[in-house]
Amino acid sequence: MSEPFYWRLETPGGGAIGVLSIDAPGQKVNVLSGEVLDELGAQLERIPHLGLSGLVITSGKPRTFVAGADVREIQAIHDPEEGALKAARGQLIFQRLALLTIPTLAAIDGLCLGGGTELALACRYRVASDFERTFLGLPEVRLGILPGFGGSTRLPRLIGLPAALDLILTGKTVDGSRAFKMGLVDDVLPREDFGPRAVRWLGSRLDAAAFERVRAERRRRRAGPPAWALEGNPIGRAFVFSQAKKSVLRETHGHYPAPLKVLEILPHTCRGPIPEALALEARAVGELLVTPEHKNLISIFFLTEGAKKDPPTPNAVEVRAVGVLGAGVMGGGIAWALSDTGIPVRLKDVAPEPVGKGLKAAYDLYQRRVRRRRLKPGDRDRKLRLISGGTDWAGFARLDAVIEAIVEKMEVKQAVLAEVEARLPAHAVLLTNTSSLDVDQMASRMAHPERLAGLHFFNPVDRMPLVEIIVGARTSPAAADTALALARRLGKTPVVVKNAPGFLVNRILMPYLNEGLHLFRQGVHIETLDQSMVDFGMPMGPLRLLDEIGIDVADKVSHILGAAFGDRVDPAGVLEAMVQGGRTGKKGGLGFYRYRGGEGTPDPAVYPLADRPSRDVITAGPDAWRERMILAMVNEAARCLEETVVESPAQVDLAMIMGTGFPPFRGGLLRHADVVGLPVVVDRLRALAQVHGARFEPCPLLVKMAQDAYVFRPEFR
Ligand code: NAI
Repeated sequence: MSEPFYWRLETPGGGAIGVLSIDAPGQKVNVLSGEVLDELGAQLERIPHLGLSGLVITSGKPRTFVAGADVREIQAIHDPEEGALKAARGQLIFQRLALLTIPTLAAIDGLCLGGGTELALACRYRVASDFERTFLGLPEVRLGILPGFGGSTRLPRLIGLPAALDLILTGKTVDGSRAFKMGLVDDVLPREDFGPRAVRWLGSRLDAAAFERVRAERRRRRAGPPAWALEGNPIGRAFVFSQAKKSVLRETHGHYPAPLKVLEILPHTCRGPIPEALALEARAVGELLVTPEHKNLISIFFLTEGAKKDPPTPNAVEVRAVGVLGAGVMGGGIAWALSDTGIPVRLKDVAPEPVGKGLKAAYDLYQRRVRRRRLKPGDRDRKLRLISGGTDWAGFARLDAVIEAIVEKMEVKQAVLAEVEARLPAHAVLLTNTSSLDVDQMASRMAHPERLAGLHFFNPVDRMPLVEIIVGARTSPAAADTALALARRLGKTPVVVKNAPGFLVNRILMPYLNEGLHLFRQGVHIETLDQSMVDFGMPMGPLRLLDEIGIDVADKVSHILGAAFGDRVDPAGVLEAMVQGGRTGKKGGLGFYRYRGGEGTPDPAVYPLADRPSRDVITAGPDAWRERMILAMVNEAARCLEETVVESPAQVDLAMIMGTGFPPFRGGLLRHADVVGLPVVVDRLRALAQVHGARFEPCPLLVKMAQDAYVFRPEFR
C-alpha cells in the first residue's frame, strides 16, 4: 500500500485497539471523495492482519467528523448506471468495515453528515461527543437524492422505521443526546479528552454479546409495544409508510422525487438480506442522480456555498459589538440573530415599551428552541444577556457597527443616521435595513456618507436566510465588506445588489403581486388563485403573501415602487381601498382572508373590489394565471440584469429562492425561464401584452437573448 494520505492508523499507548482517523490535508472539513474511500478500503483490508482487538474510527479535524460525500463528484454524474456503480463502490468499502470481526466504534465529535453518518452506521458502535456542534444526519433528500452508501439499509434496522423515515425524509440533524435517545449512537461522552475516552469505551465493550443485550433492552424500552406492533408486521409497516407518504405529499405536493423514492425502497431495504437491500439502494440513487430536481438542488447548494466566500471581504472592520436602532418587528429579530451568534447588542428605541417588546421577541425566539430541546435554558440566558436595551445612547461610543431598523420614512432615517454617526467611533459603520428607500439619499445628511451600506434582512429574520447587501454610489469598501461579513457571520446568504428602487427581491416580487391583484380584480377566486401558485411550488399564493406582508405595508411599497415602475407595479387602488376598509392583513386579523387563529379563510366581503370581472380570464384556468404571474417576474428579473442591479442570473435565482421561497426544485426563476425556453417566454410575453397591456412587453435583454439562442444558466447545458 502507498503512503496513507487521508487516513492514519495508530495504536495509542501501544494497546491492541487501533485508531483510524481521517484528516484530509489542507481541507477545512473531511469529505468522502473517491480517493478518500479507496484509501479507506485499502486500510480496512489490512486491519484483519494486524492482530487488533478493536478499531475506533474518528476524525483529526476539530469541528467535523465527516461532512458527507464529495458533492462535486456527485454533480459530475450524468448516467444512472454510473451513479449506481459509484454508490456500490462506497457500499462495498463500508461493507468491508461492517464485516470486520473485531468490534468497531465511530467516535463522532463535530458535524457528521450523509456519507459520514453512513460510515458510522457501518461500525458496530457509535459514540458522540457532547460538543455543541456535534450533529448527525442524512441530508441527502435536500440534494434530491437518498442515502446510498448503506444508510437507507442500515438506519431503519438500527433505530426502527418511523425514526429512520423521519431522519431520511426531512434530512434534519440531531445532536448527540437526541441521537442517543433514538438509538443512533450508543453513548454520549464529554468532549474533553474525547479520543482516549472513546478508546477506553470500546475497550470496555469488547465483549460484544453483553453489550448487544444492553442495546436490545434499550431498544425495547424506547420503542414500547405500539412501535413493535407497527413495525413487526406487514400491515403495521404499510400503515407507517402510508402515513409518511401523506405527510411527504402534503409538504412537497409531489414535486420532489427523492422522498417518494425513499418511500418506495425502504419497505424493501429495512429488512431481509443486506446485499439485496444495498443493490436496491444503489439503483435508486443512480436514478435520482439524473433527475432535473437533483441537478437544480445541487446547483443551489453550490450557489449557497459560493455566497459564503465570494466576494471576499478584505476591508471589513472587526465587529465586536453592534447597536440596533428600532426594536420593532425587524429590530427585535436582528438583535436576536446577533446575540445568537455571540455578538453583544445594544437595542435602542424611542420609548421603553417597544424596547421591552423587542427583548421579549428575542426571548420568545430562544424559548421556542428551548421548548423543542434545541437549546438549554442556561444557554438561552447566556445569549439573552448579550442584548441590553434602552432609550439613550449609552454604550454607542464603543460600537463597531449600527443597524438601523426604524420607521420607513426618509426624513426620520436621515436625521437619525446623522445623529447616531456623531456618537460612534470613527471606524464604525452604519447599516440600514430599509426595504424601499434610496440608500444614497438616506446618507446625505451624514458627515461621512461613505460609512453607510444597506443590510436588508427579510421577515421573519430567524427564518429567512437571505440578506441583500446594498452598495450605494458612495458606500466605502469598509462599509460594504462589513455588511457582507456580518451577514455571513449571522449564517445568512448574502446577495450584493445595487442601490436601485426595490433593490432585487422586492422589485421582482412586486410585479408578481401586482399580477395577482389584476387576476383578483378580473374575478379569479382568492383560494383558487393562491392554490395555482402553491401547485407550482411557491410556499403560498400572492394574496396570502400580501396578507402576510401586511396590506398597509404592501400599499406603501407599491406607491414607492409604482413611481419607478409605472403599470408594472400599479395595484389600481385595491390595496388602498382595503387599508381604508380596516384590512391590514394577517396581523390585524383581516385581509383577503379572515383570521381567527390559524390559516384563515377567504373573506367574500373583499369581492366587491374585483371590479373588472372577465369570463375569459376566469375560465382560462390555473396554467394561464400562473403564466401571467411568473412571466411578470421573469421580465422584471431580466430588467434587473439589464440595469446591473445584480451581478448574474445565478444570483437572481439564489436570491429568489432564499428571499421568497421560489421552489428550489425548479432551480430558480431564471433557470425556470430557461426550461420554458426564452423564445417561448418572449412570444408569450408579447401575446400577453396584446391582451393585457404594455406591462408585459418583453424587455430588450430577453428579446436579444431569445434571438441569439442564449440562456440564463448555461452551466446546466
Ligand atoms: P416597526 O414599526 O415594527 O418598528 C420600528 C421601530 O422603530 C418602532 O419600535 C419605533 O418605535 C422605532 N423607532 C422609530 N423612530 C425611532 C428612532 N428615532 N430611534 C429609535 N427607534 C425608532 O417596523 P419594522 O417592520 O420593524 O421595520 C423597520 C425597518 O425595517 C423599516 O425600514 C422597514 O422598511 C424595514 N423592513 C421591514 C420588513 C418587514 O417585513 N417588516 C422587512 C425588511 C425590512
